[in-house]
Amino acid sequence: MNMTVAEYKVQISNVSKVFGPKPMEALKLIKSGTSKEEIQKKTGNIVGVYDVSLGVLPGEIFVIMGLSGSGKSTLIRHVNRLIEPTSGNIFVDGVDVMRMSNDELREFRRHRLSMVFQRFGLLPHRQVLDNVAYGLSVRGLARKQCEERAQHWIEQVGLLGFENCYPSELSGGMQQRVGLARALATDPDILLMDEAFSALDPLIRNDMQQQLLELQRTLHKTILFITHDLEEALRLGDRIAILKDGEVKQIGTPEQILLKPADKYIERFVRDVNRARILTAGSIMDAVPTMKVSELTTKSLREKINANELKLVYMLEDDGRLAGVFIPPNTKSEITAAAAKRNLCKLPHIDVDAVIEEVAILALNSSVPIPVVCENGKFKGAISQSAAMSALVRSKV
Ligand SMILES: Nc1ncnc2c1ncn2[C@@H]1O[C@H](COP(=O)(O)OP(=O)(O)O)[C@@H](O)[C@H]1O
Ligand SMILES: [Mg+2]
Repeated sequence: MNMTVAEYKVQISNVSKVFGPKPMEALKLIKSGTSKEEIQKKTGNIVGVYDVSLGVLPGEIFVIMGLSGSGKSTLIRHVNRLIEPTSGNIFVDGVDVMRMSNDELREFRRHRLSMVFQRFGLLPHRQVLDNVAYGLSVRGLARKQCEERAQHWIEQVGLLGFENCYPSELSGGMQQRVGLARALATDPDILLMDEAFSALDPLIRNDMQQQLLELQRTLHKTILFITHDLEEALRLGDRIAILKDGEVKQIGTPEQILLKPADKYIERFVRDVNRARILTAGSIMDAVPTMKVSELTTKSLREKINANELKLVYMLEDDGRLAGVFIPPNTKSEITAAAAKRNLCKLPHIDVDAVIEEVAILALNSSVPIPVVCENGKFKGAISQSAAMSALVRSKV
């Protein structure tokens, strides 16, 4: 993907961060191939991230995934300049955050982005409503307006009725809903979420992931989401960057990471993931022969069938929606008759975004490839028994 700086919402360009007394010296050493452990032993410098480049597109959930200590928090804190890079550049909407004046930086942090933290970071002595309204009141918005907006976001995250509770009266999951509502209340373009769901129990975490995806469907925020949990990364991320020891190992969609791991490290990482729960119908469907119903004549159909030795033809409306399938009978005269009558069969169809786990059974039980359609009903392809089967088994052929 060739994008210019301005097309990315957030662009991180060759960013390195070294903690310690002589960061530049450490960078030189790492460039010359010295290991991070050695650098730490010799110089007392800790390499947090090294030469990271990535671009986050407007409206996407970009996940930064890596084990504890891999540099995730260090990296994300560069975006709002809580950390300044040892070398490299950070651009938000094409603007170099290192060039912002103090006033610009304050404005930028207050209006353009919000953070959601792992430990919620709520004000313990304030009620939910005040916690959510906090960022707005800091901005100097009138009390009534603050409360109205806070109320709206409290409802959006499913906390109606809890406005007057104190954080300690809420479960972890509910506290993080407050954290999310608070972050959204200031209407930032960018959400920075550092292990926001990592402290939650698995079931609650699942709910929160679901909620975030649902909210994002209408909000289209640019979200940088950090996690050490691969399944969470694969579920939430439009794209994922995998960090190891402060360096990016791979950037890709969940499908690219599962189907084309960049190296042995990532391969090992993804080995135990339930792929059927992550991969979508769109990633395993095949192209199949189609024909427009409006162009269906005995001749055109015969030609199509003979040329491809087809067992069926997927018939489309002029706008690309699936009309049905045509299953050619055996003999010429039967084909002629059937074509004349436009005898289309209806097959069940699969949504292009459905995960394989949900739809495999349909494809496995069907003697013909099951059609795949997108949201507006347009035909995209079809999934055969063998495609469904090979998606379900773990090892690559
Ligand atoms: N302020 C700091 N001073 C020294 N070392 C730090 C500091 N912050 C982070 N590090 C080190 O940088 C590396 C990356 O840390 P961090 O970004 O917190 O990782 P993650 O968020 O992926 O767990 C770790 O080795 C950590 O010890
Ligand atoms: Mg961290």
